[in-house]
Amino acid sequence: MKVALVTGGARGIGAAIVKRLAQDGAAVAFTYVSSPDKANDLAATINANGGKALAIRADSADAVAVKAAVAKTVEHFGALDILVTNAGILNLAPIEDYPLEDFDRMVATNVRGVFVAMQAAAKVMKEGGRIVTIGSIASIRVAFPTSSVYSMTKGAVAALVRGAAIDLAPRGITVNNVQPGPTETDMNPADGPHAPALQTMIPARRFGKAEEVAGMVAYLVSGEAGFVTGASFTVDGGYTA
Ligand SMILES: NC(=O)c1ccc[n+]([C@@H]2O[C@H](COP(=O)([O-])OP(=O)(O)OC[C@H]3O[C@@H](n4cnc5c(N)ncnc54)[C@H](OP(=O)(O)O)[C@@H]3O)[C@@H](O)[C@H]2O)c1
Repeated sequence: MKVALVTGGARGIGAAIVKRLAQDGAAVAFTYVSSPDKANDLAATINANGGKALAIRADSADAVAVKAAVAKTVEHFGALDILVTNAGILNLAPIEDYPLEDFDRMVATNVRGVFVAMQAAAKVMKEGGRIVTIGSIASIRVAFPTSSVYSMTKGAVAALVRGAAIDLAPRGITVNNVQPGPTETDMNPADGPHAPALQTMIPARRFGKAEEVAGMVAYLVSGEAGFVTGASFTVDGGYTA
């Protein structure tokens, strides 16, 4: 049985990834911060249905907590084969007014947290290991005012993945980046204030579903994706086409 760790797995895209990996037969640990009830419910549902899940409280902005989550996963399930860094935040403001504290929080969660998890996971992963980051199409096309810092963090993730893939390729560990387009979650509700403008920019004329992002992750962590590494994959209904 493969063992996975998903950061930010209690809701949204992360929860869809947790469910999909569990469905595909992995034991899945996942982190949460502000959603303990959703995290415990999700773990309980998977465990009640014959799967294996473990919810771990770990703020991605806290390096000690992230490393402890990796260690706890290995301690509980005996290994770590798959890491998915999904936890992320979105703070929007025009560049002239962007608060430095928000900049630091965004970088700490969306970039530093990804690096720390990746580094800790790489230390314990064996040949065949899989690392997948959840970036964003914002790394390719910013498209909206107020998105500069968010886009920067996702651009950093895409570049980090390319470098890490080269470093880890000799050990048979792949590293890839999934870049969702507008996907219906709490972060980006399909009836939110930006939705009408976004809809017109998506050739598919709808928001993506979290499960559609999870499907790409499922492929990238599978055995057949062993020669796929260092790449970014958009799941965006044609938004960046
Ligand atoms: N939705 C979109 O349109 C879209 C598009 C492109 C990329 N993305 C990316 O996809 C990922 C998931 O987004 P989403 O739409 O599912 O967002 P969401 O609905 O806002 O959920 C965010 C998830 O991240 C977790 N999280 C946030 N800050 C955290 C921290 N400091 N430490 C640990 N976990 C933390 C949350 O956990 P708690 O609830 O426990 O706090 C939650 O599980 C993000 O990286 C986001 O940038 C989303």
